[in-house]
Amino acid sequence: MTLALEPLRDEDSDTLYAWINDRELVELSATYRPVSRVEHDAWFAGIRRRDDAVIFAIREDGELVGTCQLIVAGDEAELRIRVGRPSARGRGLGTQAVRLLTARGFEELGLRRIWLQVFRANPRAIRAYEKAGFTVCGEQGPTVLMDLTAAAAAPRPAPPDGG
Ligand SMILES: CC(C)(COP(=O)(O)OP(=O)(O)OC[C@H]1O[C@@H](n2cnc3c(N)ncnc32)[C@H](O)[C@@H]1OP(=O)(O)O)[C@@H](O)C(=O)NCCC(=O)NCCS
Repeated sequence: MTLALEPLRDEDSDTLYAWINDRELVELSATYRPVSRVEHDAWFAGIRRRDDAVIFAIREDGELVGTCQLIVAGDEAELRIRVGRPSARGRGLGTQAVRLLTARGFEELGLRRIWLQVFRANPRAIRAYEKAGFTVCGEQGPTVLMDLTAAAAAPRPAPPDGG
């Protein structure tokens, strides 16, 4: 199995349109409201051109299983992820995608801090974020705030040779 973060392609649009109208899926991270095809097409055309956001397709062996993005403000960014394909959840892919995305954010975009919001009622997501190194940094009503800094994510230097 190979997991990769890749650019979105035009042919991904229909799948993303189905996911954004999947109430159960959307309600894991936001308030659900039906999205029209026209609205979706405008969003899809715009998201790949935005300077302040980077979005990736999460592909398992080349197949679209989800999306993830960083919404950048200065040297910080908000992380969002949606593994839309049901059979792709609960197998470690979300955690792996978050790790790949944070690595890009720190190493390629030079971010200092990446944060996210997650519903307390979504323990699977909280656990995945914890496994990827995030820790809780605040709470707002039903939402938990978590973050990861570049310093905390950096690989630790090898211990001195004890010999
Ligand atoms: C949240 C999401 C990215 C996680 O990715 P994933 O691939 O499903 O998760 P992983 O398999 O990497 O890790 C899930 C962890 O949560 C644990 N878990 C699953 N259900 C759980 C529950 N009800 N309570 C506690 N832990 C739970 C799993 O056991 C696993 O931890 P472990 O490896 O220590 O056993 C993905 O499920 C997703 O996109 N879901 C739909 C949308 C969503 O919720 N997005 C997040 C919005 S903030």
